[in-house]
Amino acid sequence: MTKRFAGRTAIVTGAASGIGAAIAARLAEEGAGIVIADLRAENAAAAADAIAAAHGIVAIGVGCDVGDEAQVESCVEAAIARFGRIDVIVNNAGLMTFKTLAEWTPDDWLKVLRVDLLGAAYFTRQAFLHMGEAGGAIVNIASVHAIETSANAAPYAAAKAAMLSLTRTSSIEGRDRRIRANAVLPGAIDTPMLWDNPNIKSGAETIDPRDVGQPEDVAAAVAFLASDDARFITGTTLAVDGGRLAKL
Ligand SMILES: NC(=O)c1ccc[n+]([C@@H]2O[C@H](COP(=O)([O-])OP(=O)(O)OC[C@H]3O[C@@H](n4cnc5c(N)ncnc54)[C@H](O)[C@@H]3O)[C@@H](O)[C@H]2O)c1
Repeated sequence: MTKRFAGRTAIVTGAASGIGAAIAARLAEEGAGIVIADLRAENAAAAADAIAAAHGIVAIGVGCDVGDEAQVESCVEAAIARFGRIDVIVNNAGLMTFKTLAEWTPDDWLKVLRVDLLGAAYFTRQAFLHMGEAGGAIVNIASVHAIETSANAAPYAAAKAAMLSLTRTSSIEGRDRRIRANAVLPGAIDTPMLWDNPNIKSGAETIDPRDVGQPEDVAAAVAFLASDDARFITGTTLAVDGGRLAKL
């Protein structure tokens, strides 16, 4: 495989499991040094050790709640201390909770927004503070819920839609800094988050088995957008959903 990220460093949030782990593995396979930022330090370290062993690269795991800006700063400091540079940031950490509009409390809204939106905003700020003259790439993992959604997931859908707006602003402000920013819209991807979804368990949201993708499918798209192959692509969104959004 071409080593599109040789000599480069990538931070992937929420990469101890699911889609994030597949993204980190793909970037490592292509030669990147990896920083795995996830809630629990021991999970992040275990995932980093596994990736380093599998791909012969350097990987570190950092305990980081992306919704806490001080922890985000510390994570970036650890990345720079180990690698001396940051080239790619993948904002993947996310959570989804389920209530009707009448049931949501302010705390419920903030719980989702602080991780799914502000986490990406905090890492984006760090990208603009620390990416050097060579610039870099930000890839935001949004969701098809940014475009179409289902009942009982208002904060998640709102956060993911706002992530697309953040992506556009990042591309505009990044233009003179050689920082590109793009978003990926995963559809139904075969991870615990999908199968734990109460709307899917109850049948309120049905998924054709042909519409279920693998974490590696998202990882391939992220690697493309983060690489120099996408050097003229910024401010856009790429659905990785098997065509689900395109159907009537
Ligand atoms: N699985 C799907 O079908 C699907 C579809 C569309 C979008 N997505 C998005 O893809 C991303 C990854 O989802 P997944 O399916 O791999 O989920 P997952 O639950 O398997 O993994 C999420 C990871 O994020 C971490 N995390 C949660 N809160 C965090 C925080 N505050 N700080 C740091 N890390 C945190 C978790 O520990 C976990 O490792 C999410 O942003 C999700 O919204 C998933």
